[in-house]
Amino acid sequence: MEVVIRPDADDAGRTVAGIVEQSLADGVTTLGLATGSSLLRVYRDLARRHRHEGLSFSGVEAFLLDDYIGLPALSPQTLAQVIRRELTDHIDLDPARLHLPCGTAPDPAAEARRFEQYLAEAGPVGLQLLGIGVNGHLGANEPGSSLGSRTRLKTLSEDTRRDHARFFGGIDGVPRHVITQGLATIGEADHLVLIATGPHKARAVAAAVEGPLTAACPASILQLHPHATVVVDELAAAQLQQQAYYRCIARHKPVGQRY
Ligand code: GLP
Repeated sequence: MEVVIRPDADDAGRTVAGIVEQSLADGVTTLGLATGSSLLRVYRDLARRHRHEGLSFSGVEAFLLDDYIGLPALSPQTLAQVIRRELTDHIDLDPARLHLPCGTAPDPAAEARRFEQYLAEAGPVGLQLLGIGVNGHLGANEPGSSLGSRTRLKTLSEDTRRDHARFFGGIDGVPRHVITQGLATIGEADHLVLIATGPHKARAVAAAVEGPLTAACPASILQLHPHATVVVDELAAAQLQQQAYYRCIARHKPVGQRY
């Protein structure tokens, strides 16, 4: 795992967008997308690179991590709508190549199995973008999620529902259930890139990167992955014990070595 500490959130966002651009240049054609405010800076910079620098997503297949169950299909809060509004409407990704777990499917459990199967056939994901919840969740894999989990229904924790209340005008509107890729599903991507910014993420980042590998911190699965990059700003890095070493690695990165 490589931990990259950037001075601020904008810089962290640009760093992750740069990793995406490099991966596409290297021939990656399958991209895993996630929602959450931490990724907004990444998506804004990708849209800018598309508009002004010719970055193209035309051959890319994209897969979303999760979506709420039970919202009306065109509700602006579905994560399908969020990812369109925040990224895919602003780049040249073919809308037919954006693949989503459908939270409005009549049988959500069957839909979760369909999506898992589809990922198995169309994958693996070359580069998976990730945020992290303040409780260490990945996607909607809340603490306690099996490290071997696959795409399935999950019940959101009250912590997460409180955090998402800002998008629903209060906690009462936040759905209780989601379809989410599982931790083992996420772990099948070739490269995991997690971004976390702000002081409220410092504890979760330290637990994920330097704590034990445990279902109590789902993001700790990054430790098990052969190619994981964690990009944080100074504030989110604040509780990392090995900061000096991570900075030393950055200063002495072998010439030509990629993230
Ligand atoms: C949601 C998403 C996660 C994301 C998390 C962090 O729960 N399902 O994929 O990592 O939010 O969001 P934020 O970056 O807004 O703190």
